[in-house]
Amino acid sequence: MQYMIETKNLTKQYGRKKAVDDVSIHIKQGEIYGLIGKNGAGKTTLMKLLLNLAAPNAGEISLFDGESRGVALRKTGSLIEEPALVKNASAFENLKRFGILVGADDSELHRLLEMVGLADTGSKKAGQFSLGMRQRLGIAIALLGKPELLILDEPINGLDPAGIKGIRDLILELNAQGVTFMISSHLLDELGKIATTYGVMRDGKMVEEISAEELIQRYRTYIRIATGNGDQAAAALRAWQPGLQLEQTGNEIRITSDNTDSADVAAVLVQNGVRLYELVNQAVSLEDFFIERMG
Ligand SMILES: Nc1ncnc2c1ncn2[C@@H]1O[C@H](COP(=O)(O)OP(=O)(O)OP(=O)(O)O)[C@@H](O)[C@H]1O
Ligand SMILES: [Mg+2]
Repeated sequence: MQYMIETKNLTKQYGRKKAVDDVSIHIKQGEIYGLIGKNGAGKTTLMKLLLNLAAPNAGEISLFDGESRGVALRKTGSLIEEPALVKNASAFENLKRFGILVGADDSELHRLLEMVGLADTGSKKAGQFSLGMRQRLGIAIALLGKPELLILDEPINGLDPAGIKGIRDLILELNAQGVTFMISSHLLDELGKIATTYGVMRDGKMVEEISAEELIQRYRTYIRIATGNGDQAAAALRAWQPGLQLEQTGNEIRITSDNTDSADVAAVLVQNGVRLYELVNQAVSLEDFFIERMG
């Protein structure tokens, strides 16, 4: 299978506002795709388009490698914004309402409540649930029918640290069984613990899709150099190694190429008469990388 989710130039307009603007995404089977972006970037709208909860103005959507929409969505579980719960019904009763649609038996419902940590809520009504409890129930609903693809909009929103870990472990466990995930989150550190690929959205556009592996290779470390003359330093370094990946901002230079020895860099600069004030091997945090791109 090529892609579990693929879109081509997808656009959704609300009035004059392009909530999703010319977005092409690619999610392979078995991935945990982390969708990142500021408030209003278009994450929820993109997910709604994929799930047929909103109609695009332009572009194409392909799920399960071009399978018909109806068939694909029957193999897809989702949690978008708040789940629609009956306030005066218990967790079990709420889950059952949805479970009937996919033919889940009671033991399956109990198993799901156990998985999301709601097994002990008994007859407590959903109207009295905390945000985190509602969120857990929403995840249990999404898991009904053993979906092969899960599209979860901020699934750990409102969860306490233990709850976050529980959901993270659950996601990893299901992923190990072959379930593909698309997850949006504002919690970069959390997403960083599980995502295999990231999609960064900004003002409705997909700014960058990058695998976790590539991200680490490209951005984890760089050498930051403060010199007396940035132009002279850049010229010396380029003459030394023409392929060197180098960014110059005034008298400051960053070398992002792998396997560059900072001692060699220092020697080259000094030999070329460049005044060297500072040379540091610096690590880029995921947060820095994303915040720069999210705008
Ligand atoms: N039903 C709607 N009608 C009009 N405008 C909408 C509608 N839904 C979303 N928008 C607009 O589309 C843009 C993208 O919204 P969206 O909810 O997709 O962002 P988001 O990335 O999910 O943000 P958040 O992180 O806050 O959840 C926003 O400017 C929003 O106001
Ligand atoms: Mg949203």
